[in-house]
Order: sequence, then structure tokens, then C-alpha cells
Amino acid sequence: MINSDELVATLEYWQLSGIDVLSGDSLEYSGLPVTISARSGGALPTVRNTRESIPTSTPGKQKKTTKSAPTAKPVSVLKSSAEEPLIPFVEHKDRPQQLEKLQAITASCTRCELHLTRKQAVFGVGSPTAPVVFVGEGPGAEEDRLGEPFVGDSGKLLDKMFHAIGFSRQDIYIANVVKCRPPGNRNPLPAEVALCQNYLIDQLQIIRPKAIFCLGKFALLCLLGYDGPVGKARKSSFSWRGIPVIASFHPAYYLRTPSKKSAGWQDLLKLQKLLKEQEK
Ligand code: URA
Repeated sequence: MINSDELVATLEYWQLSGIDVLSGDSLEYSGLPVTISARSGGALPTVRNTRESIPTSTPGKQKKTTKSAPTAKPVSVLKSSAEEPLIPFVEHKDRPQQLEKLQAITASCTRCELHLTRKQAVFGVGSPTAPVVFVGEGPGAEEDRLGEPFVGDSGKLLDKMFHAIGFSRQDIYIANVVKCRPPGNRNPLPAEVALCQNYLIDQLQIIRPKAIFCLGKFALLCLLGYDGPVGKARKSSFSWRGIPVIASFHPAYYLRTPSKKSAGWQDLLKLQKLLKEQEK
């Protein structure tokens, strides 16, 4: 008799291991055939906590075609990463070193299949004591080549935008949801986001900014589990572990739809106001 809890947990493990499970797939579990009746992948409102529960083996090395039940422990469910407490304060002087250590881990990360096609992992750039962290989606071709986030066309626009409120790249911090380039600039898959999520969480925990500026839907999904339209999120207030979050469009959207740029300016003014208020 199959225990359905165990089965669901195992399917989650498959997903997080980069093994897509699609509706209609025939799998084998505990020696018994199983047919999946609904897509078990999809969006990420319930982002998984990979910190304790991801097996220390390298699931990214598994072949997509291997659909026998894995023996590793199933992943546990993170209710909402946004609600967890911040880890103890990391002293300013220790932050560069902590970020360097984390960067070295991401540089050799093989958790998902993106490591197979990347030139290098793109960790993040900026000040370890930045008042604000901008969170994008994932590296594109230029970022993959140069090892720095937002250096392509979207990045040039982003630079102009934060320059307008008096920031340079050295003052702020820029990171992405996934650290390795999705091939052909496709969207990151749910499993890739989930497997990479803790690197971003750790970056935010170390830097502990006064505000987080989410650039587009993947940042909102990853940090808040928010799966709705960005335009709607812009009108709401969010926080991530006590840190205010500003929801904004991805700069690539303004390149496609320049008439929407004013929304980006408004969001930056909101950020500026929020940071000023915190100085009082
Ligand atoms: N470059 C990045 O680093 N991130 C994005 O989301 C887009 C371009």
C-alpha cells in the first residue's frame, strides 16, 4: 500500500532535484506503477526550505530520465521563508568574508543542471553593508561571461535608475534569484529557484539591508511566495523577515515597454523615502 504523504514528499524531492514530473507521467514507486494525474510542478507559492533538508549529494547530476524513486530523505516544506527570523546580526567587519565564503560555495555549486551550461556562477555585487539589495531573476549571456549581475542592457538601464536616486553600484548590492544562467535566457524552473533560494537568503541574512527591491516576478516568488501580477504587488506592502520589500517591474520590461518606466521611477522614489525615514 502506498503512503500518499510519502509519495508527495518523494515527488517534491524529484522536482527539487530537477526531475520534472508531468501530468500523465508513469513512474514507479516502491516497486509499484504510479500515474500522475495532475501536474505536480508549476509555480512556487510554497517555496521549499533547502537549508537542512536538501540531501548533500549533488542532485543536479541525476539524469532527467532516471525516474526510479530516490533513496535520499524527502525535502521538508517551508511554510513561508518570509516569516522566518533573521539569523544573529553579522558584524559589518565580518560581512565581506562571509559573502566571500558563500560566493566560493556558489562558484562550485552543482545542485541543479544549470551548472552544466554556465560559464561561471554570478553571485552578486556591491557593498556588504548596503542599505538596499536589488534582486533580479538570473544571469543572462553578458552576466555569465563577465561574472557580474545586470551588466547587459537591463543592467545599463538599472544603473541609470539607481543613479537617479544617488546610488552607485558600490553603495548598493545586486543579486539574482538564480546564480547560474538559464540556457537561452529561459525562465528559471521551479526546481532551480528552490535549489538556489538559500544562497539569496544567506546573502540577505549577511547583508541585512534596510530594504529589498524586487525586480520582477521571480524575486517576489522566491522571497515572498507571491505568484500574482507585479503590477498588483506594487500597490501592496510586503516584508521579508522584518525587512521592507518593494515590488517593482524587471528592467527588461521597461526595455520592451518604455512607457512603463515611470512605474520604476515611482518605486525608486518609494525606496528613497523609506530609506530616509529609517535614518530618522
Ligand atoms: N541580468 C541579471 O543579472 N539579472 C536579471 O534578472 C537580468 C539580467
